[in-house]
Amino acid sequence: MSELKKIYNPNREFAANARIKNMCEYKDLVEHATEDYEGFWDTYASSKIEWMKPYSKVLDESKAPFSSWFIGGKLNVSTQCIDRHLDKRKNKAAIIFEGDRGDKQIITYLELSYNVNRFANLLKNKFNVKKGDRVIIYMPMIPEAAYAMLACARIGAIHSIVFGGFSAEALRDRIQDAEAKVVITADGAFRKTKPYMLKPAVDQALQAETTVEKVLVVERNGEDVEWVAGRDYSYNELIVDESSKCEAEMMDSEDPLFLLYTSGSTGKPKGVQHNSAGYILWAQMTMEWVFDVKENDTYWCTADVGWITGHTYIVYGPLAMGATTVMFEGVPTYPDAGRAWRMVEEYKINQFYTAPTAIRVLHKMGENEPAKYDLSSLKVLGTVGEPIDPPAWKWYYEDVGNSKCSIVDTYWQTETGGHVVSPLPGATPIKAGCATLPLPGIMAEILDPKTGEKVGAGESGYMCITKPWPAMIRGVWGDPDRYVKSYFGDVKKDGKAVYFTGDGANYDEDGYITITGRTDDVINVSGHRMGTAEVEAAIKSHAKVAEVAVVGRPHELKGEGIFAYIVMKGEDNLAEEIELIKEINTNIKQEIGNIAICDDMVFVPGLPKTRSGKIMRRILRSIAKGEEITQDISTLEDPSVVSAIEKCIKG
Ligand code: PRX
Repeated sequence: MSELKKIYNPNREFAANARIKNMCEYKDLVEHATEDYEGFWDTYASSKIEWMKPYSKVLDESKAPFSSWFIGGKLNVSTQCIDRHLDKRKNKAAIIFEGDRGDKQIITYLELSYNVNRFANLLKNKFNVKKGDRVIIYMPMIPEAAYAMLACARIGAIHSIVFGGFSAEALRDRIQDAEAKVVITADGAFRKTKPYMLKPAVDQALQAETTVEKVLVVERNGEDVEWVAGRDYSYNELIVDESSKCEAEMMDSEDPLFLLYTSGSTGKPKGVQHNSAGYILWAQMTMEWVFDVKENDTYWCTADVGWITGHTYIVYGPLAMGATTVMFEGVPTYPDAGRAWRMVEEYKINQFYTAPTAIRVLHKMGENEPAKYDLSSLKVLGTVGEPIDPPAWKWYYEDVGNSKCSIVDTYWQTETGGHVVSPLPGATPIKAGCATLPLPGIMAEILDPKTGEKVGAGESGYMCITKPWPAMIRGVWGDPDRYVKSYFGDVKKDGKAVYFTGDGANYDEDGYITITGRTDDVINVSGHRMGTAEVEAAIKSHAKVAEVAVVGRPHELKGEGIFAYIVMKGEDNLAEEIELIKEINTNIKQEIGNIAICDDMVFVPGLPKTRSGKIMRRILRSIAKGEEITQDISTLEDPSVVSAIEKCIKG
């Protein structure tokens, strides 16, 4: 039987204690949501959230696709994550931090409360941050990043985290778009035991005109940094004076909680907006359902807080349910391929959540490493961000999970706030490389983009969600039209625009969904979204580049690699090309960051274009994959360009 068809039955012993125990329970929940959608959500919203004031209505779709949830309800996300646990769990570990160099900290819920309240007071009293103000967080993976997020939530400020690997220019774009008042950063941090810097990028970003008034700097690596008097302040110095009591701001269900910038197929990254109640509800529900974290469990997600996975499944989801979450500053493969498994053994990790890229790298670097450690605490193994290939899946299941753990291949996006398609551990029979079934309450359907009809089993279609759900994106910051165009412009079902994820998908005879990848010009590099337009803009900023087209190509470790076709101004010249590659890479690092460095750059005489001037990316994708060109190229403005490009690649 092919690996893809084989069904791995859930571990019955484990299933007996799971929150959703079997497929009958799953089907009952799906039925409840189908028959009484608002009633379904009401059941959870009323029991999982501690409301300061109850809501009067579950869902308002009158302004669709701008939908609102839990109308009139008041809450504060930081009290969901901290205060309500203090009665029962004040001395329980909320965050276990392991630094890059092996330094450790265990932060209890009481200590978390103390730190977040002081941080909130600092922002409010010293920086005059008010409800609705935007605060940029450009931080390494240290507990202060989580404190900063929760402190913003406590006073009603909207945080926007910028991944620490992004460059000064990328940071500046986000600061300007969000019109931020404050930037929270660190001097730097450690990577593979060596210090690296963050503050200089903030200084550089703020050379442009921005709305930023103050910069708060957390000391992490102790390196010297430039200091702008009146603008830059030391967290370590200011925090000691702050009181550990800060009243939580009463927030409306639909008050924004955070913005997170993500790449789309065109233009600059969009500020995806998530609001308070719906987001935190789904973060908690999916934590409970998908990871089935129990009171005494220790859960570890290896993501960075700069991505949505870090938001929902390192900070908000685990803390909302009162779990113990591990935060790791380092690299799972450093100093050796056993680092991650040593941590699993040491902290007795019960749920481990990572990206297929990391699994592939760990597999390649240390196929037999898991056997050297006691991994018997593991119950659930998660994957996220990209499709997982069957060999990696099998190794994860057999060698890491000892064929005993449930693998949850979680499909979701920055915009969905939390998981939307995923197995339920113990309940869902699993198949390698398959995200399986939509979670209860998520009306996910694979539709034909032309007719809006559901495609048949085995047919390809567009992955859509036909009803709003509580954690869905509420808007693109400052650009309502872009929200409508980006997500509701492609597919209509029964005449009504539905949310389109941007992904292609199919389902099998059991209804199991497999995501086949983006249908747009977004590349998925190591589980991170990269817009081809952004990379192209960075390459084009080089004075010698006339034209460029960027596409994705399969990559053994990263899932997809970045492949750039570049047309130079002037004559071909090999020596110049080598120099140019270096310079273009510098431009990419400056404008975006190392994550956008191209895996391949080829200099070509021209690009395949239609007579109306549109670049035929399908052809470029095929060439990058090494496929034979079977498409009709007769409609190209200059069909000979295809063989010329192929010749350049062979050369
Ligand atoms: O293409 C899908 C892919 O990652 C995209 C979302 O990227 P981002 O917003 O950065 O969030 C990543 C972490 C949630 C999706 O549109 N993707 C995500 N999870 C999976 C996946 N592709 C296949 N299988 C998955 N489990």
